[in-house]
This record gives sequence, C-alpha cells and structure tokens, in this order.
Amino acid sequence: MRRSLIMGNWKMNGLRQDAVNLASALAEGLGEVAQEVAVCVPFVYLPDVAQVLASSPIALGAQNVADQASGAYTGEVSAAQLADVGAKYALVGHSERRSYYGDTNQSVANRFAQAQKQGVIPVLCVGETLDEREQGKTFSVVDEQLDAVIDTVGIAAFANAVIAYEPVWAIGTGKTASDEQAQEVHHYIRQRLAERDADIAANLQILYGGSVKPDNAQGLFAQPDIDGGLVGGASLDASGFLKICHSV
Ligand code: PGA
Repeated sequence: MRRSLIMGNWKMNGLRQDAVNLASALAEGLGEVAQEVAVCVPFVYLPDVAQVLASSPIALGAQNVADQASGAYTGEVSAAQLADVGAKYALVGHSERRSYYGDTNQSVANRFAQAQKQGVIPVLCVGETLDEREQGKTFSVVDEQLDAVIDTVGIAAFANAVIAYEPVWAIGTGKTASDEQAQEVHHYIRQRLAERDADIAANLQILYGGSVKPDNAQGLFAQPDIDGGLVGGASLDASGFLKICHSV
C-alpha cells in the first residue's frame, strides 16, 4: 500500500512571519492523519519553518536544489545544505524552473542525483504544456522528462523518490485536469516505470499538481494511481490546505 503524500509549494510568497504563522497554523490544525504532509518553503525560511515543525509530523521541503555538489556556483543551494537545515524533500524540475530559468531535462536529472546523494528525497515534476497536449504530445513529453532522469540515475533510484505530474496548463490557472485526465497520465507514468521495474513502479508515490483546491482534491485523490497532491496557491491558506490534507 502506498502512503499518500500532500505537499504544499509556497513558491516565492510571504515574509518570515508569514512562513512562521502558516507553519504554526498547519502544525496546530493537522491532527491525526494517516497520510504524510510536507511543505516546500522558500530557501531562506527553511530554518525558521524547521523550528516550528520540529515537534509536528509535517515534513520540510525545498523548491529546488543545485545540480552540483558544492563550489563556485553563485546563487545555488546544495543538497548538503538542504539536508543540513532539515529538508526531507526537494522539488526538481518544477515547470516554473523549466520555463523561466532554463532548467533542462539533463540539469533536472543532475539535481535529482545530487539530492539523493545527500539523502534528500527528490520530487521530480513532469508535465506537458497546453500546446503539447493539443498536439497529442503529452505522453512523449513526459517520456522525455522521465527518461533523462532514468538514464542518469537508473531506475533503482526511484525507490527513494516521488514524481509529481503537473500539467503546465493547470498550474495557477484554476483549470484542473479532470480526474480522468490526471489518472490517465498517472497510470501511463506508472506503467512506463513498471516496464523497467514493476516493484519500484508499484510503490512509487505519484502526486498530482495543478490547481488542486479543497473542492476538487477528493475526486483526484480517489483515483487509483494518484497518491496525493502538490498544492501551490491553495497551500498558502492554512484552513484550505488542511481541508485538502483531509481529503485523502
Ligand atoms: P497551483 O500550483 O496549485 O497553484 O496550480 C501547483 C504547483 O505549481 O506546484
């Protein structure tokens, strides 16, 4: 049985007090849940949020990680540094990184590898743009994004990783993939990995992301291959995010 995972992605929002307040509200409001909950916070607030979450089951994540181990890479944050401040997860290949900051499939694969070397669990984000979907390229785009990582780290590395399917057209747009559209791609991803290793594919958590809200979470999370969500906008509101956490 795969454990569900609900992950907030705060993106570049708020100041320190906002981060502390939001984390405190989540820690106080979560209660008993079987699923795992995590929040991916801006780098600079990782230590503050780690402190707030220290006695809560909510895990800490970063929104990116460097593709190199250490050295002269101005502006980057290494996996060792993330591990040092208590991050359990790091997003890699979020579509905003790919489209605004030029993260390529290969650099995403290298980030994935660096995270794992330091015991930080990579959350590999994949997904197609609207254009690509309309041209019938959804599966081939996802294939390329997955293959670059598999070719670099090997299929065994997915025993300790998470995938997030995030159709770019659904991120921050209010347009969620339908339960069926999301399930179709999740199933495809799991099948594709199963061709390489059936056990790893069966145990892999695949999250859905893209305009997950309290009113659509339950339908999405009920799909057989959807193991939780990566939640952007709706994770900035504690009560809404907690509702999503309880939708599993
Ligand atoms: P959204 O963002 O929930 O605001 O669509 C999801 C994400 O980018 O991870």
